[in-house]
Amino acid sequence: MTTEQDILKRALSKDKRFGYLPEKDRHYTAPMDNDLRFAVIGTGIMGLEHIRITEMEGRARITAVWDPNPAGIAAAVQTVKLIDPSREVKIYKSIEEVASDPETDGLIICTPNYTHLDVLKKLASTGKHILMEKPMATTVHDAMEIRKIAEKYPAVFQLGLQYRFKAPYVEAYRDVMTQELLGDVKMINIAERRIPFLDKVGQWNKQSRYSGGTLVEKCCHYFDIFNLFAGSKPVRVTASGGQDVNFRDFEYDGVRSDILDNAFVIVDYENRVRACFNLCMFSPLFFEELVVCGEKGTLRTWEQEDFMSNDGLQTGYELFCGENGPSRKGSPQYPKMIESSGHSGATFYEHMYFVDNIRGAKTLTATAEEGFWSVVVGAAAEESVRTGKPVMVERMLKNAGIRL
Ligand SMILES: NC(=O)c1ccc[n+]([C@@H]2O[C@H](COP(=O)([O-])OP(=O)(O)OC[C@H]3O[C@@H](n4cnc5c(N)ncnc54)[C@H](O)[C@@H]3O)[C@@H](O)[C@H]2O)c1
Repeated sequence: MTTEQDILKRALSKDKRFGYLPEKDRHYTAPMDNDLRFAVIGTGIMGLEHIRITEMEGRARITAVWDPNPAGIAAAVQTVKLIDPSREVKIYKSIEEVASDPETDGLIICTPNYTHLDVLKKLASTGKHILMEKPMATTVHDAMEIRKIAEKYPAVFQLGLQYRFKAPYVEAYRDVMTQELLGDVKMINIAERRIPFLDKVGQWNKQSRYSGGTLVEKCCHYFDIFNLFAGSKPVRVTASGGQDVNFRDFEYDGVRSDILDNAFVIVDYENRVRACFNLCMFSPLFFEELVVCGEKGTLRTWEQEDFMSNDGLQTGYELFCGENGPSRKGSPQYPKMIESSGHSGATFYEHMYFVDNIRGAKTLTATAEEGFWSVVVGAAAEESVRTGKPVMVERMLKNAGIRL
């Protein structure tokens, strides 16, 4: 398992300020093994984040990339060269070349949501370790297909639900789930306010058929957090939402955007935990809040970032246990270098655990089953918004031909 010491040493070993040292004098800052070779499939904004963080984490290196978009390839090669100008990156010409290359150990799939199943089918025969971006698919049917492939997969299959590694959620998980400081969890609330979806290659995130809809595409992260803290399976999902501000006149190739930009979602769990999600995507500020109410106390944690100011990421943590035990307030944070590397530092830990998983450790990374349930809640919420009715999860899955 990785220790904090290892992380610091790896960071220092890559710090160019120590480049003046003769090699024999580099002990604490000596270069560390980066013997794992990863290829990135889909070098858009998330693929580039994975490239940077693979190199930053340090035990693996990016040796190859595939993307049909030449600008994405150029950006990927430039990203690696900026880190180490001497490095060569293999550029595949097709997914078939990715599949037939014996010189990689891990594949990071960061293509648009609607392509995940197809890409996985073409790569599954390789038996290489896979990190696949969230949401695993745009429909519960495809998510189940991926889950079936993953459950028989002979190597690591990890899903990119890395929000669970944001510092406030790690702290909350420890207090609520490991130490059970709140007793039994009864209610969970998450609010997200943020700017509209950014541009994408082919603008796939503006249309539900390509993204799964906002509540699948983006919010699977939060439904994953719900599922973790509820410790149970969702039975009913009720939602209200609309496209009231963003992309109302947006068309791409003659097709209008149809994605939600605000919603409320209520999830009822088998164990009677209730969860409520509140989304607004026309806010100038990034803000995320989690509130967990248990029988013995309440926890509230949040992070916010205003890109128009220089304040950086701010976080808060408040644990109120009343007479049941000590309460606590604080501000969970990672080292700045990690925090600023992407998604509040969560992607860094996702990579660290990906390598730990490859090395045989057991970590808390998202499994295909967990990825599946995060899509189930999102898809049920989308359906509830469309129909104006509560969606019973079992019936929705049955209608999709899924029996568990
Ligand atoms: N975990 C997170 O927090 C997080 C954040 C952002 C995006 N994502 C996910 O990452 C994935 C990619 O999103 P993005 O924001 O980078 O999108 P993007 O549009 O910026 O990049 C996608 C890239 O994939 C390429 N591509 C399309 N089809 C391909 C194929 N069949 N084979 C290879 N490359 C292909 C495109 O040319 C593009 O360069 C999506 O699934 C998205 O939901 C996850």
